[in-house]
Amino acid sequence: MGYIKSAALEETGYVVLDRYNKEIDPKEWLDIEYVDWKSSGDTRFAPLASAFGDIECNGFWNHKPPRTDKDGVFIPSQVEKAPTLTARAQEPGANIGRCRVIELQPNSYADCLYNLHQDDNNRLNPDGTGWVVRGFFNLTDDTESFFVLRENRTDPSVEYRIALPAGAQLIIDTQRLWHAATHLGTDPRYCLITSWESGPELDAYIEKHNGVKHVPNFEVDQEVLDAGQAEQTRRLAARAAALAARGQAEKLVMSEA
Ligand SMILES: [Fe+2]
Repeated sequence: MGYIKSAALEETGYVVLDRYNKEIDPKEWLDIEYVDWKSSGDTRFAPLASAFGDIECNGFWNHKPPRTDKDGVFIPSQVEKAPTLTARAQEPGANIGRCRVIELQPNSYADCLYNLHQDDNNRLNPDGTGWVVRGFFNLTDDTESFFVLRENRTDPSVEYRIALPAGAQLIIDTQRLWHAATHLGTDPRYCLITSWESGPELDAYIEKHNGVKHVPNFEVDQEVLDAGQAEQTRRLAARAAALAARGQAEKLVMSEA
């Protein structure tokens, strides 16, 4: 039968929507409660919706009974502090799974390439239902920062680099595309990440906000790109060697970023 997917994401695996152009009080993401949650990079997360409405970030499949990344339960104490963020997550009207704000400490392009990973949004997702993709709403104005998306983790020939100013709105099939953020600022980056079920509601939302499947790559000097790629190769080899020495295979899929 297969999953219901968005035609808009078929070609590149992502769309960029119109910029969100309203001011949001930073207290909405600064005053909510964060938990330490190891992701790609130095991160913390503040859940707005979780498996059962508790302040925790675990994949829904790790709860009892295990289930896929849908039917997230909003957390009243967090929603109260972040009403605009909650409304933005709910605007499409698509089923929501995990919904959280990520706090990412500054890193480099090389770090980002090392952090590239695929998400696990569709574990236990029943065939014939909507494929889970993710919305990324950048909250801080990170003008030097960019998202990196690749079809293949180690192949730079297909690399989309998407700018992350305040108000940037992306929807990404993060189970298909390898992804991570390069964040070159001095302060943490904050971004709202929402798991949405693909379907007519999400398609209408993408159309309403003029989603485009190609944007110009954020410009980075070729020297930096080459050095980052070389460093990714070096670090992955070092990690593989360390894991092999311990008799373990590499864990390819991370739960979040
Ligand atoms: Fe991720």
